[in-house]
Amino acid sequence: MDKYIVNGGNKLYGEVCVQAAKNSVLPVLAASVLAEKEVRVAGAPRISDVKNMMKILSCLGCRAEYDGDDIFIDPSPARCWEIPRALAHVLRSSVFLLGPLVARFGRARIAYPGGCDIGLRPVDLHLNGLKRLGVTITESNGYILCGCKKLVGNEIMLDCPSVGATENIMLAAVKAEGETVIKNAAREPEIEDLQKFLNLLGAKVRGAGSGTIVIDGVRSLGGATFRPMADRIEAGTFLIAAAMCGGDVSVNGISGENISSLLHKLRENGCKIDIKNDKINIKREGRLVSVKSVETQPYPGFPTDLQAQMTALCCICSGQSIVTENLFETRFKYVPELRKMGADVTVVDRNAFVRGVDRFTGATVVACDLRGGAALVLAALSAEGRSEVLDLSHIDRGYGDFEYKLRSLGADIVRVAV
Ligand code: EPZ
Repeated sequence: MDKYIVNGGNKLYGEVCVQAAKNSVLPVLAASVLAEKEVRVAGAPRISDVKNMMKILSCLGCRAEYDGDDIFIDPSPARCWEIPRALAHVLRSSVFLLGPLVARFGRARIAYPGGCDIGLRPVDLHLNGLKRLGVTITESNGYILCGCKKLVGNEIMLDCPSVGATENIMLAAVKAEGETVIKNAAREPEIEDLQKFLNLLGAKVRGAGSGTIVIDGVRSLGGATFRPMADRIEAGTFLIAAAMCGGDVSVNGISGENISSLLHKLRENGCKIDIKNDKINIKREGRLVSVKSVETQPYPGFPTDLQAQMTALCCICSGQSIVTENLFETRFKYVPELRKMGADVTVVDRNAFVRGVDRFTGATVVACDLRGGAALVLAALSAEGRSEVLDLSHIDRGYGDFEYKLRSLGADIVRVAV
């Protein structure tokens, strides 16, 4: 497992381009199983979650390979509808294959998904939604088995606006007979991106981004070339890095609208934010000012995927903050590692009570999940002295060229094989 060695304290200056969104590319790759012609995903990031999703597609019989910066998929050879535990367990989005496999083969057998250890992460909303479309589901020995003679459109009300459940149901409904209406659907921008991709294939989906999505089933889908949206979480991570280290950084290729909740907080923290077209510039000179509270919510609220990074920022503000994680039960596992760097944070249930300190102090810390790991890197970049961040496999799941991009902004960070 590789590690980062970081000498903290450099201010960050310059421009960084944002990768294609991991959480758009993954459902788009799952959706490509439905295509009857070739699919090209343009500018896909080389991150391990994407590579593992490609392995899953290959295991199903699809041809899936990088072609330069693109991913080329020929779904026509696919004949398999099973995903073994070894593959399913590696990432959460393996469960997104239930919908397309049932739509294409009338059945699916997938081991329970894995992904970041940030909570219970049940799949009941996925399964209940598929049942509403006529799928029979049994669960045994850690596998989910789905069968369906004919998918029939229906109205589905989600108990909570689950991103994955919304996407899974969309991927089954596009080839169901008749109309499907998903109510209390997730409103994340990645859902709108999936709608765009599905409609490029010939599907009839509308309403993504609102709370209600309407899908008119079609008999077949073609192929497409699709460039996914920019990764708003990667963009937010770099903006928070600049806020913590100080300096003047522009993040290119990102719509400010997609992370407006973060931008409001950073302005409250005393950062100067300018948005021009698809470029966001952040400057921070004086001391960071605490925000009273940060509460994660489904979109358009503050994104849970920026919670860890924002908590790290709160740790070096003047004053106190409360960070509340409303979506996942155990998404503060990185906090003990921040404490090793001098943070004053106490976690009680879903709340982190933060008392600001002047600076982090360099230490050796261990990443335990994707976004928690990124938060530790940001803490190390802003710290006094040398840090080591161990177990980069978590960070590699979602950040491509992370250390190169940070170095291009002036950070003193190197990756070392251990
Ligand atoms: C997606 O996960 C993202 N992953 C996550 O990003 C993100 O944190 C999450 O959405 C919330 O925005 C991908 O898109 C690949 P959910 P997902 O279903 O779909 C509960 C990252 O760091 N729930 O919206 O798993 C669940 O327990 C990752 O990039 C049920 O109760 O999230 C949670 O409390 C981490 N039953 C809430 O809904 C279900 O069947 C939101 O989960 C499904 C979910």
